[in-house]
Amino acid sequence: MSSSAAPPAQPAALYGGTSGRRVTVRDIAAAKERREKWPMLTAYDALTARIFDEAGIPVLLVGDSAAMVVYGYDSTIPVTVDDLIPLTAAVVRGSKRAMVVADLPFGSYQTGVPEALSAATRFLKETGAHAVKLEGGRRIIPQVEAMVAAGIPVMAHLGLTPQSVNAFGGYRVQGRGQDGDELMADAKALEAAGAFSVVLECVPEDLAAHVTSSLSIPTIGIGGGNRTDAQVLVWQDMAGLTPQTAKFVKKFADMNGLLGEAARSYADEVVSGAYPAPEHTYH
Ligand code: KIV
Repeated sequence: MSSSAAPPAQPAALYGGTSGRRVTVRDIAAAKERREKWPMLTAYDALTARIFDEAGIPVLLVGDSAAMVVYGYDSTIPVTVDDLIPLTAAVVRGSKRAMVVADLPFGSYQTGVPEALSAATRFLKETGAHAVKLEGGRRIIPQVEAMVAAGIPVMAHLGLTPQSVNAFGGYRVQGRGQDGDELMADAKALEAAGAFSVVLECVPEDLAAHVTSSLSIPTIGIGGGNRTDAQVLVWQDMAGLTPQTAKFVKKFADMNGLLGEAARSYADEVVSGAYPAPEHTYH
């Protein structure tokens, strides 16, 4: 009999891990302790949710960016809970491992705690989402505390919070100079209120890094440099489907070109009669 003890089991990595169950807030907290970086993507339908889930993306966000990339609005303001519920349910159905986070749309939580709880519970009950995300700092602490007390995991969102685009006067970098101290105070208040993570959008790299090292919950950067714990992108930006994107976006594919080419080839073959060929035809 060997006297040496078995080596401790390696913890499953958050990205690409194969635990055979859904990622939970505990897995996300453990990744921060291991100083392990991880990717998050948006998803709005079952097909892309399955692709990203099978690619090992541990957290899928059904963002209110659906307002723009799904519904064609020019900001996130108009989208409603009723618009996002079916998309969120589809993402849950399409995925097996990822934690699915539902974005609370503009107007569904700012008005008060009862409204916030009602919107968040609708997402959890009607879609099967595992957490919600909402934008804002100290002004929404009562909502965050109430949701956490109700057992709803909350992802926070600071910096360029697109639902406040009219107050910001456009999509601009946030948290420069004195505003950085305000953002740090917001981040600490959200952590104390029980948020399990915080998105930092369009903030200077040094500020994002400082917030990351000051919090025990993970930071998820989007336009915050590479010293945050995680990164998130809107999938259509990541895959090069959106023609115009912000400076922080890297296009990891040219889906715009690929889809356009596929549509043109299909159309050409329909017009020429080459498609459908015998192998696509029932006899
Ligand atoms: O709505 C969204 O897609 C988002 C992410 C970009 C963070 O909030």
